[in-house]
Amino acid sequence: MKDKIQTICMQFERKYQCQMIIGPGILADIKTHLIPLLPTAEVVLVTNPLLEQLYGKRLVADLLNHKVAVKVILVPDGENYKNISTAKKIFDKLLQGQVNRSTTLITLGGGVIGDLGGFVAATFMRGIPLIHIPTTLLAQIDSSIGGKVAVDHWRAKNIIGSFYQPIAILIDPAVLESLPVEHLKNGLVEAIKIAIIQSPSFFQWLKQNIDLLLKKNRRALNILVNRAIKLKSEIVLQDPWERKERYYLNLGHSIGHALEVMGGYENITHGEAVAAGIIMETRIAHYKNICPTKEMNEIEDIIKRLQLNPRLNWEEFDLEKLWKTILLDKKNKKGGIRFVLPEAIGKVGLYQPIWKEDVANVFNAIFTEKKKGGIKIC
Ligand SMILES: NC(=O)c1ccc[n+]([C@@H]2O[C@H](COP(=O)([O-])OP(=O)(O)OC[C@H]3O[C@@H](n4cnc5c(N)ncnc54)[C@H](O)[C@@H]3O)[C@@H](O)[C@H]2O)c1
Ligand SMILES: [Zn+2]
Repeated sequence: MKDKIQTICMQFERKYQCQMIIGPGILADIKTHLIPLLPTAEVVLVTNPLLEQLYGKRLVADLLNHKVAVKVILVPDGENYKNISTAKKIFDKLLQGQVNRSTTLITLGGGVIGDLGGFVAATFMRGIPLIHIPTTLLAQIDSSIGGKVAVDHWRAKNIIGSFYQPIAILIDPAVLESLPVEHLKNGLVEAIKIAIIQSPSFFQWLKQNIDLLLKKNRRALNILVNRAIKLKSEIVLQDPWERKERYYLNLGHSIGHALEVMGGYENITHGEAVAAGIIMETRIAHYKNICPTKEMNEIEDIIKRLQLNPRLNWEEFDLEKLWKTILLDKKNKKGGIRFVLPEAIGKVGLYQPIWKEDVANVFNAIFTEKKKGGIKIC
């Protein structure tokens, strides 16, 4: 049976439109899916050396065959390079290459390439057309959708950025075949997060299918990608500028971002940090009688089934540092910290203020358990 290709058109306040094309094999057929989306026959491809080898070379050859001029800009792989200094190097190359305002910047890669390339597209000449081709599960179901683009600062995650909608997103689940399982797990964490926020039925489906997903079962992955994209794009369309509903997508990220900064970007992936963040924030919700024990256990159980294993030195963590880093996060407002907390599976709420003592309680319990080797939060 031929795999189905789905197109979703996201329309933002009449001004912006984003075509999302989803289906296995679409990247191998650019004539049908990519070429018609290009405003002009000039493209800059931003990717990393690994993805250039895996998919970039073929994409460039196909574009040239269709008489599209392509410049390739390679950036080193890794979160450590999602910063302003790499962005500057890309700006230099765009100027050297005499890129103009109608040249399309295509990102080919995971969330790091998408956020970095998107940030460059948003700011170069006050904005050039952007198309994402996300290649990790996380990027396909989460980071490429909704127009958040940013680079990190060593003191705070995603702190320099903007909202900038791509004109299109090409999501080809077939590329997940080459994705190592440890990176697939990062996407599964964001899928679990979306389910906790708004879909009990998706949460149950994830529970039933997690082992198949970890084995990269093609059918299960296709279903996951389609369901998660639908849920994420619904939230983004409801609230494109993150004033209310979209803010809920920050579940697990207040603590998660602080763990990324404190742990060093090379020692903990975004997904691992968010997983630990979801567990800790759910425990805060439980401690404050917001989330019942049964739901808290269900959330912890599904995350533990992913068997995440960040290379963190937990001994170095202390509450003071964690709290200071949480305070630096852009989600915070003057002292009284806002947290998204789960109330049940499929329902979250905004809680403010959450105090240092609330975090301390959970933090101390988790770290005592961890030091005793009794708990593996992730
Ligand atoms: N903008 C947003 O709304 C948003 C949302 C969530 C996360 N993010 C950001 O996303 C980033 C994390 O993204 P990520 O998890 O995709 O990590 P990543 O981009 O670092 O990719 C993970 C690794 O997989 C490799 N890779 C990518 N695709 C591959 C493929 N098909 N086959 C083999 N290897 C492949 C990459 O080269 C990299 O080594 C973080 O910076 C996070 O802040 C942004
Ligand atoms: Zn995230």
